[in-house]
Amino acid sequence: MKKASSRTEKPPRPVPGATRTAIAIMAAGKGTRLKSKLPKVLHEVGGKPLLAHVIAAAKQVVAAQDIYAIIGHEAARVRQAIEHTGIQVVVQEPQRGTGHALMCASPALAGYDHVIVLSGDAPLITSNTISKLRDCHHERKAAMTILSAELGDPTGYGRIIRKAGKKDEVQAIVEEKSCTPAQRKIREINSGFYAFSVRPLFANIERLKTDNPHAEFYLTDMAQVLRKAGERVVVTKTENASEILGSNTHAELVELDHKMRLDQAWKLMAAGATIFYPETCVIDSDVEIGADTVIEPFVQLLGSTRIGGDCRVRSYSIIQNSEIGDGVLIRPGCVLDGARVAKGAVLGPYSHLRPGSEIGEGAHVGNFVETKKVRLGKGSKANHLTYLGDAEIGDGVNIGAGTITCNYDGAHKHKTIIEDGVFVGSDSTLVAPVRLGKGSYVAAASCITEDVPEGSLAIGRGKQVVKEDWVKKKRQNL
Ligand code: UD1
Ligand code: CA
Repeated sequence: MKKASSRTEKPPRPVPGATRTAIAIMAAGKGTRLKSKLPKVLHEVGGKPLLAHVIAAAKQVVAAQDIYAIIGHEAARVRQAIEHTGIQVVVQEPQRGTGHALMCASPALAGYDHVIVLSGDAPLITSNTISKLRDCHHERKAAMTILSAELGDPTGYGRIIRKAGKKDEVQAIVEEKSCTPAQRKIREINSGFYAFSVRPLFANIERLKTDNPHAEFYLTDMAQVLRKAGERVVVTKTENASEILGSNTHAELVELDHKMRLDQAWKLMAAGATIFYPETCVIDSDVEIGADTVIEPFVQLLGSTRIGGDCRVRSYSIIQNSEIGDGVLIRPGCVLDGARVAKGAVLGPYSHLRPGSEIGEGAHVGNFVETKKVRLGKGSKANHLTYLGDAEIGDGVNIGAGTITCNYDGAHKHKTIIEDGVFVGSDSTLVAPVRLGKGSYVAAASCITEDVPEGSLAIGRGKQVVKEDWVKKKRQNL
């Protein structure tokens, strides 16, 4: 795993003549409107923190070392959550508004020519839109380029006040709370994404004031500040208004989540999968599904799950961080976490595969079977009511109903080894550590505490006693 830098490292010396562009992601806010202990940018949509989506888009535009997350509220927690991405971190303490966030980033950004500013709470942004914003900024040779969008309902967003008579130049951005009734009717809103030329930004940022309802430094006020300093401030309107949606409330988070998951379902279907009633399924944004695989209603596919082609996942299964090969049938109600299932295997209904379960090609794991840290070989079967933990199970093994690996002695876990072709009769308990040799048989209802040699039969149960006419005699004595 790549280690993220916890400092703001000095950027490498620029190549003469080349322009250097950084991306700054504002992520220091508390998210007061969420009323949550968790910082806003760590709330999840599509199965990933808001900030992780923005970082992923940014990384497609500039190198990780040129991306700066500005963090503040619960900084340690946010830092830990993004460490693996390899991006840089700047701390804003205290948090005195979006303008103040950029003031705090000024030492880190000083070596760059341009900075693209993104909002850590707007996760639908794509690299394509970020690149278009950058290109427009360069073309117009502007000091500030604002990405705007036309929204049916602009409530809550800052409004773009265009300069009269000028095609794309901007007079100011006015926050909703400071809008006049006429300004409130403007449907062109500030997305919260901008491109700045670094020199005029930091030459003028100290002119920001806090004379607003929140007594904060608003980055939006830079539009007016730069214009007054004689700099060019332009706006470019995105065609994909939905990409800029922010998430200040739980209702907005759920809406974004819904949108992201439906987009993901449609993307997977375009790649050849069938997802019935996609609005009932919960599919995280990094999930992959092969062609001709069918996902039935009410299925959850989470985390880094990858499903092969020609599979069927029946209803009410929850599959997390698991890898499923081609042609696997997952019957209803299975729960998989950190499992690997090879091609042609059949699971369920109601199988529980816990982390470290490796199910071999064509193997069967049936109803009410729980596995953990188990390798089940090719074509092996454990069809009913069984617990298999810390076990190495070979090929062509039959595990009878109700078999239990007793892997835990109250202090330590022990291993059960079951070699190829073993037959374990129903209701057997295998007390680990224990080894069942190749091709051996275990009689039903055995308690196996010692190794069973290859090819032999082990019977570990009390001998049956038959008392003839016992019932008749008992009745006579009544
Ligand atoms: C902001 C814009 C608004 C725009 C909207 C788009 C301002 C003043 N307003 O409003 O014009 O329409 O985004 O979504 O910028 N943050 C910091 N440090 C701070 C405060 C905030 O890093 O001191 C971060 C937040 O974590 C968040 C982002 O900046 O990721 C935006 O802040 P937020 O409070 O959500 O601004 P909005 O009210 O949505
Ligand atoms: Ca916001």
